[in-house]
Amino acid sequence: MDKRNIIIDCDPGHDDVMAILLALANQDKFNILGVTTVAGNQTLEKVTLNLRKLYTYLGISIPAASGSAKPISRELVLGDAVHGETGLDGWDFPEPTFELDSTNAITFMYDKIINCDGKVTLVPVGPLTNIGLLLSTFPDVKEKIEAISLMGGSIYAGNNTPYAEFNIYVDPEAASIVFNSGIPVIMSGLEVTHEAGILDSEIETLMKKEGRVSKMCGYLLNFYVKFHHAEGYASFPLHDVCSVMYLLNPEIFEYKDLQVEIDCSHSIHRGRTAADNREWMKYEKPNTRVLLNIDREKFIQILFNAFEKLDKICDR
Ligand code: BDR
Ligand code: CA
Repeated sequence: MDKRNIIIDCDPGHDDVMAILLALANQDKFNILGVTTVAGNQTLEKVTLNLRKLYTYLGISIPAASGSAKPISRELVLGDAVHGETGLDGWDFPEPTFELDSTNAITFMYDKIINCDGKVTLVPVGPLTNIGLLLSTFPDVKEKIEAISLMGGSIYAGNNTPYAEFNIYVDPEAASIVFNSGIPVIMSGLEVTHEAGILDSEIETLMKKEGRVSKMCGYLLNFYVKFHHAEGYASFPLHDVCSVMYLLNPEIFEYKDLQVEIDCSHSIHRGRTAADNREWMKYEKPNTRVLLNIDREKFIQILFNAFEKLDKICDR
């Protein structure tokens, strides 16, 4: 089977890192054309530094570029309450030696996609600023994009506000460009990501492992769940991992194809992903596959296997 060409656009971020790791462990199925960064969980400078540190720690050299420092038309809102001062608190990384591509992420993505033999799947797991700018600046790129498997949104309730999930809330204008682009969107929103939770006991298991990737993940998650403990959850959502996991193992998900609209107002509804879920509404071509549920045990098993695979590859 042909490998799927992907570009991951992210704001690392604890769960962003786990999503990247899942993709890295599956390079027999993915041709990773590049990884790009966008401001969100922390400033662009900090999340880009985090990506460079991760690359250096793992010893990998997949091309990477940094992108937008702020949303298309709003002030930046950070996710530092969850991800800490660095945006990736919990593990001491070595000083980075990996150097980024000098091109801005938008041009970087355009070049990679246009020069790719086949179609490309985008995997955005942060605010959608870079992707919105890519599609509006270079509309000819659309025909070469197979699908956009993104983390963002929610049908019933938000996390950043009562109605909006963080990634969509940060840059609703960019999200609107993406959802209205005509490209098939696969939405890992809060409904599915809160079913894709990790337990305290599973984090402890990771922390006790000897492998440099599993152990690092254990310590990173041990920091990440502090915020979620305070919210009173029993398992902790590994949001961004879902967007990569669906491309690998769609059979462990439940979903519904729906028409999703983005609220770009400045009201309390800002960033809401309103989905028309009325049984009798029939859209000829609904714009979004909304993931709704997942087999949690299988999800964790596949993820831990990926970490173990990388433990062996990155054992230097
Ligand atoms: C999203 O916001 C960030 O905190 C996570 O990395 C994820 O992409 C969840 O709302
Ligand atoms: Ca993210």
